[in-house]
Amino acid sequence: MKDAQAGEALTPAALQRHLRSAVFGHRIFYYPSIGSTNDRALDLATAGEPEGALVLAEEQTGGRGRRERIWESPACLGIYVSLVLRPGVPAAKAPMFTFTAAVATAEALRDTCRLPGCIKWPNDVVVGRRKVAGILGETRGSDPQIREMVIGIGVNVNQAPGDFAVELRERATSVRIEAGAPADRAALLASILEGFERRYARVLAGKPDDLLREWETLSAVPRGRRVAVEGPFGRCEGTVAGVDDEGALLLDTPGGGKTRVPFGEIVEALWP
Ligand code: BTN
Repeated sequence: MKDAQAGEALTPAALQRHLRSAVFGHRIFYYPSIGSTNDRALDLATAGEPEGALVLAEEQTGGRGRRERIWESPACLGIYVSLVLRPGVPAAKAPMFTFTAAVATAEALRDTCRLPGCIKWPNDVVVGRRKVAGILGETRGSDPQIREMVIGIGVNVNQAPGDFAVELRERATSVRIEAGAPADRAALLASILEGFERRYARVLAGKPDDLLREWETLSAVPRGRRVAVEGPFGRCEGTVAGVDDEGALLLDTPGGGKTRVPFGEIVEALWP
């Protein structure tokens, strides 16, 4: 990627120069600075914005991560976007869409930036052991069908090591740190959105198999690896046996049992 492009602002015009999607990202709500793109997208979704509407910001002052964590979102260095979805499927399927976004993000890092992006279940995108991107899927209300959902995607792109808070430096990385050069955020975002749209259509059509195969290939914690997971029923340990078609993690537990963890986080992986 050329440095001129790498330093370019991530505006709607810059994104549209690259974007070849059918619907995702065609309607863009752009903010030089905002609290959280997810909050804005949830409001827009509630007000009736159609599927594919995208909230794009150059900076977030209240970026949110999973489990009430802060998502550092310094101006002009990362990708901070939230996409409105209207899948109309049972609420139990919601994790599958965050999962789809993670696969699309890892693949876009591979295609566009030549980085070995992997996924740590459910939706941390990592290079090696450090996190480069995260996904936050949210719905409002308690409808049994998902009428509207927001998928927030945050990617650390052009941060230097000193741009991360001291306590994050061991765990976080950026495209620039890993690739050794700044990257074109618009090209990377276009690739994420196109890949997400393509995979989302297949999942909605009841054909999640390709996505599940991709997850297996991209998993940073492959089958057979022993892990500790914090799920809805507390902490449990086991050996990774795969994911099911709702994005839940399947574990073989000590003593020969099986556990299905619908949501949570791998808190410890016994790396080789
Ligand atoms: C995580 O891994 O904890 C999820 C991080 C999600 C961050 C993105 S940045 C765009 C969107 N807006 C937010 O406030 N959060 C998500």
